[in-house]
Amino acid sequence: MMVTANPKSPIGTACGPTQRTAISGKRGQKRSMSAMNGTVCLVTGGNSGIGKATAIGLAKLGATVVIVSRDRAKGEASLAEIRSKSGNQNVELMLADLSSLQSVRDLARDFAVKYRQLHVLVNNAGIFLPKRIRTVDGLEATFATNHLGHFLLTMLLIDTLKSNAPSRIINVTSSVHYRSKINFEDLQGEKKYGGFRAYGQSKLANVLFTYELARRLEGTGVTANALHPGVVRTGFGTDVFGVMAVALRIQAPFVMSAAKAAKAAIWLASAPELQTVTGKFFSKGKEKRSSKESYDVEAAQRLWEISEELTRKQVRSVAAVE
Ligand SMILES: NC(=O)c1ccc[n+]([C@@H]2O[C@H](COP(=O)([O-])OP(=O)(O)OC[C@H]3O[C@@H](n4cnc5c(N)ncnc54)[C@H](OP(=O)(O)O)[C@@H]3O)[C@@H](O)[C@H]2O)c1
Repeated sequence: MMVTANPKSPIGTACGPTQRTAISGKRGQKRSMSAMNGTVCLVTGGNSGIGKATAIGLAKLGATVVIVSRDRAKGEASLAEIRSKSGNQNVELMLADLSSLQSVRDLARDFAVKYRQLHVLVNNAGIFLPKRIRTVDGLEATFATNHLGHFLLTMLLIDTLKSNAPSRIINVTSSVHYRSKINFEDLQGEKKYGGFRAYGQSKLANVLFTYELARRLEGTGVTANALHPGVVRTGFGTDVFGVMAVALRIQAPFVMSAAKAAKAAIWLASAPELQTVTGKFFSKGKEKRSSKESYDVEAAQRLWEISEELTRKQVRSVAAVE
């Protein structure tokens, strides 16, 4: 099924336990504040850019929204802004560093204990690093933050998502994945590191992970889709140089606001017509074919196994443990 969202248009009636009111996204029209009542959403990177705009949009629909930030001050400032702009006080902050496996584990545990429910997980946080940095776990930081942290978070919360089905996982990737490959021989860029290469690889990993996740979640009522938000005016890539800087400059005329870009994520999180749509890639609100490499099932399984291995001690569903 080919699904298209008109970016100017409706989010639709929301998913979640209470689907009370139809929402129209047409400009100037009033949207329901209750369409996502009773729905719990977790948004990583919710203190900035697309994540913050997504959190505002979901909160406007009445969802309980938990944003994840690695920085308390930034997180608290965003929390106040999201509450004020959405008029919804059911927005909370949790602190976690997605590049640290222990921090992700703490986040998943604390989240499951506090909220017990999860209907929408938006794996949005992302980073571009011109120079190779090692995380506290000794991993390359782009791979660890953009892919592995979200892989682990998803695995730890999967039972919570299953028990709240229908529920949705949205992985924010990038069109950069079209020009990328997974280098299994040097996944961590130990032999050769390039910021653009590492970022592209991590974004292709997001798509491969989404498809493998969708296959493994078949029949559970939990969907998994990937999304390219477009080229967006955020804090992202402001301190980059080289290929990434050139790419951003070339795309400058097509840059959109975070609020506009977030409409696609909000639509994926809430539209009733997407309740059973899974294993798809969306670009700026339209379903699209992703790169040839992203449909390589063997590569997806291999990446999954490596991710499990790297997070081995960490992967135990929180819901199962509690
Ligand atoms: N902007 C674009 O044109 C564009 C295009 C395609 C895809 N994307 C994707 O969109 C997503 C959101 O990016 P954005 O444009 O909104 O950029 P942004 O404003 O820089 O937001 C990125 C978010 O990720 C968070 N983050 C980074 N590393 C983290 C870590 N180790 N632990 C926890 N949080 C961490 C950042 O936190 P801090 O504020 O603390 O750094 C920030 O909240 C990313 O996945 C990016 O790859 C963006």
